[in-house]
Amino acid sequence: MKNILIGLLFFSSLYTLAQSPEKNRPPQHPQFNFQASQRPDRILLTWSDDPSSTQTVTWRTDTTVTIAYAEISQADPSPDFHKSAKRYQAETSLLLNDFSLAAYHKVIFTGLKPDTQYTYRVGSGDYWSEWIQFRTAGTTFEPFSFIYLGDAQNKLYSHWSRAIRAAWRDAPKASFFLHAGDLINHSQNDYEWGEWFEAGGLLHRMIPTITTPGNHEYIEGQEGQKLGISPFWAQQFNFPKNGPEGLEDQCYYVDFQNTRIISLNSNEDIDRQAVWLEKTIATNTNRWTFVTFHHPVVSAAKGRVNESVLQEWKPILDKYRVDLVLQGHDHTYGRGQSLITGTNKYEKNSGTVYVVSVSGTKMYPLTEQPWMSRAAENTQLYQIIEVFHDHLIYRSLTTTGAVYDAFKLVKNPSGPNKIHELATDIQEERRFTNTLMDPDDE
Ligand SMILES: [Fe+2]
Repeated sequence: MKNILIGLLFFSSLYTLAQSPEKNRPPQHPQFNFQASQRPDRILLTWSDDPSSTQTVTWRTDTTVTIAYAEISQADPSPDFHKSAKRYQAETSLLLNDFSLAAYHKVIFTGLKPDTQYTYRVGSGDYWSEWIQFRTAGTTFEPFSFIYLGDAQNKLYSHWSRAIRAAWRDAPKASFFLHAGDLINHSQNDYEWGEWFEAGGLLHRMIPTITTPGNHEYIEGQEGQKLGISPFWAQQFNFPKNGPEGLEDQCYYVDFQNTRIISLNSNEDIDRQAVWLEKTIATNTNRWTFVTFHHPVVSAAKGRVNESVLQEWKPILDKYRVDLVLQGHDHTYGRGQSLITGTNKYEKNSGTVYVVSVSGTKMYPLTEQPWMSRAAENTQLYQIIEVFHDHLIYRSLTTTGAVYDAFKLVKNPSGPNKIHELATDIQEERRFTNTLMDPDDE
């Protein structure tokens, strides 16, 4: 039991004090039994170090599994590939969720070859996952694609599943998923995390995830104040520890094939992260830079302005000409560039591109604003971004597969990128002015 860290009783008492129990209980008539068992589940790939030489995997079992392993070998078409597998013992810790205790296991595969396909499995004793394949990143720029998803949050199994699966069908070789926060609705509700994993199914274990925390990943006090990020976060999401102290796995960057992906936690410590952001971007030598955080710089919905993000982060993002800023929180769609002046419709060749999107079911009414080149309401969307050396192609698609928004962004290393609008399948903006949030989703 020496690898088992039991330190989470604190969270149990915090939870009891912090949130009314009904918010965290599974539905009255649950259709899944998400109790952990000896069989590994919730298997998830993330990067906590260099994506060209390491790969991190986490998974869950019941607490009878006190020692767990992950095995890896270079992929090979021969079914004997597993004979050369290397075994790693997992770091195991316990997490007390709503009403039960589960074991979470983590392994970081190291010393991997770049741009190489590997096969891994996780488990122990008689209980093992299938062998799963992934590819490491290259060490220099190679074209790649990734999938960006706005808030999933509600009806994860019944309604969000189609969004992530449609995205994967359109970009099956995507190098990673990028989630812009609010993956679930109640941060401590194990059933919701169970649905999140069920909806993504095998994708979570095949394609690495990059994510940034939303407000719904936080434990709330009786007055609605944020008490701290859910303990589920650190157990499931392991990212490089290169951000400010105390914001590990929340504020960080990953360098993937000459592209820097930066996550900022827009829930807290905006000032401190501004200092870190400037330092991180000023010393960045990667060709492309994408930044993600949950609360958008300028809101796409009425009455939802994030003043501190606007004042403290936006000047840095613009100064260093970040290529894309990928956001969530507003439950609408908006994409544009000149957020302050609102002149983007007339000056389409300037500045960082800012996007707000939503993949789940909670919808807010859209407030059309001058900065938006494209907007939508009441539409579940996913984004596929194909990154090439000199340009990228951005497409936002509806869950029925229609291209709703598309542009080509031509990289200019010494000045503003050039944006070219591309044709879409839907000519009219989707507007349903009477749309209100589903009361079930509150
Ligand atoms: Fe949010």
